[in-house]
Amino acid sequence: MIRKKGQIIRLDTPHTTLVVKADSAEYLYYGKKLASTVGFEYLAGTPCKMFSQYGFDDYTEPSVLLENADGGFSTAFTYSRSKILTEKPEIPGLPSSYGEGKTIELKYVDTPTRVALYLYYTVFEDSDVIAVSSKLVNASKKELHIRRLASLQLDLLGDYSFVTFEGTWARERQKISRTVGKGVFYNDSKKGSSSHNRNPFVMAEGKDGVYAFNLVYSGNHKEIFEACESGRTRVLTGINDFMFRWTLAPGEEFDAPEAVMCYAPDEDGVSSEMHAFVGEHIVRGKWKKKERPVLVNNWEGTYFDFNEEKILDIARAAQRTGVELFVLDDGWFGNRCDDHRALGDWYDNVEKTGGGLKHLADKIRELGLDFGIWVEPEMINEDSDLFRAHPNFAMRIPGREPTRMRDQLMLNLADEKVQNYVVRVITDVIARSGAAYVKWDYNRSFTDCYGKGVVQGEYFHRYMLGYYRIVSRITKKFPSVLFEGCAGGGGRLDLGNLCYLQQFWTSDDTDARQRVKIQDGTSYGYPQTIMGAHVSACPNHQTGDSNPLETRFNVACGGVLGYELDMSKFSEEELEIVSKQIAFYKEYRKVLQFGDYYRLGDAFGGNVTGFMTVSKDKNTAVAVVIAYEYIIAGPELTIGFKGLNPAAVYEVTTREQDNYKDVLSFTAGGDLLMNGKIPMRDLYADTQSWENSRRLYARMFVFKKAK
Ligand code: GLA
Repeated sequence: MIRKKGQIIRLDTPHTTLVVKADSAEYLYYGKKLASTVGFEYLAGTPCKMFSQYGFDDYTEPSVLLENADGGFSTAFTYSRSKILTEKPEIPGLPSSYGEGKTIELKYVDTPTRVALYLYYTVFEDSDVIAVSSKLVNASKKELHIRRLASLQLDLLGDYSFVTFEGTWARERQKISRTVGKGVFYNDSKKGSSSHNRNPFVMAEGKDGVYAFNLVYSGNHKEIFEACESGRTRVLTGINDFMFRWTLAPGEEFDAPEAVMCYAPDEDGVSSEMHAFVGEHIVRGKWKKKERPVLVNNWEGTYFDFNEEKILDIARAAQRTGVELFVLDDGWFGNRCDDHRALGDWYDNVEKTGGGLKHLADKIRELGLDFGIWVEPEMINEDSDLFRAHPNFAMRIPGREPTRMRDQLMLNLADEKVQNYVVRVITDVIARSGAAYVKWDYNRSFTDCYGKGVVQGEYFHRYMLGYYRIVSRITKKFPSVLFEGCAGGGGRLDLGNLCYLQQFWTSDDTDARQRVKIQDGTSYGYPQTIMGAHVSACPNHQTGDSNPLETRFNVACGGVLGYELDMSKFSEEELEIVSKQIAFYKEYRKVLQFGDYYRLGDAFGGNVTGFMTVSKDKNTAVAVVIAYEYIIAGPELTIGFKGLNPAAVYEVTTREQDNYKDVLSFTAGGDLLMNGKIPMRDLYADTQSWENSRRLYARMFVFKKAK
């Protein structure tokens, strides 16, 4: 709800209140929901601003920086007007949240140049997340250059820790919390994508609670955190200003991507707000609330070395266990026998597919499985027919040797001709295979940012506009297809992509131990419904570590379950174990995929961790409790469960696992299960622990409200 009284504008969400003063562009209050309706004027005069600019006695990082026609950088945006919009405006060319809500539009003008700055704040009835965006309109007669336009500025009073989710390939989104004292810190990506290294989801944690921020964008981003002597902490989030210089001609506008923010008393609170928001206002289409199929993917099972027979062997074994979807990964097209060649040649390799994609897809469908396909539409190998025919499609700087990553170059998606080409060939792959699922991969970062006719400071963003044009056109053409994004694992897992692709491959690291942290870190800002999580072979291909099949399954239940190994090599006994796993998963799939998700213990600090999903009515829940180490004669292992109904009584059982035959069963009150220290004494009683190196100890619990 948005209410306006004079210059005071109040935005209420179910559990939070945001109050701003329009004419002075000040934040008066943001936090826990207030009942009070009077007294806000008295708070005016705070140093907490909704935007900031260069040219005054304030040298904090500005949210807007323009290079004016006269070459100067000073602006003096002052209040012009504000109005409440009943329709949320779309952001041209960019993804954004959707749904019924109210938006306040605020306009500020720099009188000498007649440039206008617009700020938008949207609240949805059912969400505590507020969507914020900004736009510049050049009403002058002269060209100017945007050097920075943050999507969101939030100024807070007090000291906050800056929490980020950092890592690298195969180690994405490790939680890092720093007490900053005073100074300027930033979290950013210059790689062209949101990156494995620093996700745009960040948090500011203080004594008064947690503020969380994310950006609905998949390109270079920057989150600045500046703690000033004045006691003010500024948070800015938006497109990275690195190599950014956008020319705004007279009459043109520039839209910054949408940012989102929320407040909750603690981390669990912001996660549940973000999860609900992503599920309701970011992910869209047929798959929004639809249970995701259990898949088998052949990548780690075969890599490039497969033929029709091998694929069908895997599919047959998978079908016996209850798998619902077969995903044919890299290697099915052109002369793609390894990762040095053929990207761009999206025609069938008849030999490897035994007669073409449709032929193989039909055979898989005859087995009763759906068919899914891997593509990497934004890339090109120099050794490809596409490159030989259209070398100018590649992103390269004329006269310079390009930097190759995984032996590939990127396509110049800033060029409309290339965009149209990609739409055409990828549409054809999906149509001719009849795919029910598409894995959209992206396996390198930008280096040779250049496109003929594209102004250099605009390249990164123009690429993103091209990418969004492509992905929105293709996903619109196939509304029934489930799209899973991938970027060498989770290198482009962000809210921008999730507006088109309903889930994302969380990481190329499928080792259960590593996955515990990667999935836990991801869960701070993103729901489990969007995290692809697969059971793979042991010793694990990334780490060489081994875990029992049941442990790998327990960990993969923290996301959308799949298997990624050669299932045709399974023994009868293993097929039986996997069949039981999948039957269990299907029984609890709704609560596992769409229940409220809670982190248990401490994945980044303690020995005991895990996760738990609880049905909306709190009658059913599933938990996985994990110990990282067997500490001999160590402290008692205990856990506190979360999210249950404190007044209800639950029947608690453990899933019968091949490596833990004893099924525990007890009855306890919800409040005891959440507040007590529930012993996990049999966690180490894993009958297969000695067979596995650097194994985890994991046990799965089911809670059912007693009748
Ligand atoms: C990337 C993906 C993998 C797999 C390979 C195929 O690394 O993250 O899952 O699809 O590409 O080349």
